[in-house]
Amino acid sequence: MPNWCVGRNLLYTTHHSPCIENFSPRPNGYLSKMKIAFFSTKSYDRQFFDLYAATHEIIYFEARLTHQTVNLASGCNAVCVFVNDKLSANVIGELKKMNVQLIALRSAGFNNVDLAAAKENAIPVVRVPDYSPYAVAEHAVALILTLNRKTHKAYNRVREGNFSLERLTGFDLHGKTVGVIGTGKIGQVFCDIMLGFGCKVLAFDLIAHQPTVAKGVEYLPLTDILQQADIISLHCPLNEQTKHIINDQTIAIMKKGVMLINTSRGALINTIAAINGLKTGSIGYLGLDVYEQESKLFFNDLSENIIQDDDILRLISFPNVLITAHQGFFTEEALTQIAAITMQNIADFEAGILLKNRVV
Ligand code: NAI
Repeated sequence: MPNWCVGRNLLYTTHHSPCIENFSPRPNGYLSKMKIAFFSTKSYDRQFFDLYAATHEIIYFEARLTHQTVNLASGCNAVCVFVNDKLSANVIGELKKMNVQLIALRSAGFNNVDLAAAKENAIPVVRVPDYSPYAVAEHAVALILTLNRKTHKAYNRVREGNFSLERLTGFDLHGKTVGVIGTGKIGQVFCDIMLGFGCKVLAFDLIAHQPTVAKGVEYLPLTDILQQADIISLHCPLNEQTKHIINDQTIAIMKKGVMLINTSRGALINTIAAINGLKTGSIGYLGLDVYEQESKLFFNDLSENIIQDDDILRLISFPNVLITAHQGFFTEEALTQIAAITMQNIADFEAGILLKNRVV
């Protein structure tokens, strides 16, 4: 394997880890290894994707894929991207010029890809639709339990010899009403967990999932859920219909002091509306694993930087807000599956067989 090193923000693979067997042959003309430009690389990506170095040439870049960095993909057959890479029409047009033939998302969500442009340029987009719904659903529950029982504060207090219980009062989840927006793979697991706590679970989705109804979840119009729920958790994708589904108007009809949880995509919530809701007490608790402007912040250590995003700093300043930096997916099981399915998607493309995880 050659040592690719073009400068800052660029890594290269040198590993020859065990071959993953049963990969398809390459009737698509790829007699040598397919070359993949891998953007937004972190150490944990390499840990799980290096297992495939024997079958594919993966060139790792720390940089996000943007208009400024797209040239890094030159000479590659495919790009592998994550949630904060920006595949605009412009970027996709550049990829086409470089003869990049596949966009392989190593995520479930695909709101960061201009799908119309991908279609127009005849570049298939594949994703990992199902890796571990448990990882994300369980993280949503972790946010709920932490905000409710204030274990993050208790942990710090006890370490400092403060054994007081003042202001740590929580509430029983048992008997509370939980509203779930979006009951796909993650939403269904979340419903199961909340039913296990003894909650009344209400759901809103475009289509009611009958096995979920059979378990005792009641599907209602969105407005009814917003009015009745003590806890609201978002599990729908980000698209034109769902952007800012949580806004001034929808917050106004929620129960005062509602707990709002978002592990889905940041722009489901209008950040300014959430800040206003927190200031008035309309929102009693806010748990976020995603944030509208996260692409400039998340997945980076900015602890020595001056953060320019005033909205996230305002959010962090509230005692009843808990933010994690898009780590819902971050379990061993999910990372293993993400790497395996991404590389299988790429192998299917090489083999010229049906791309079952194709978005467009
Ligand atoms: P899914 O596709 O299985 O389910 C999405 C559900 O939302 C479907 O049932 C769909 O009918 C419903 N939906 C679509 N439009 C809707 C609308 N306007 N109103 C209400 N419901 C609507 O997706 P999955 O796997 O459950 O993932 C959900 C979301 O979670 C993803 O779109 C992604 O944004 C986010 N996610 C977050 C992760 C994290 O690390 N925090 C990791 C993986 C996914």
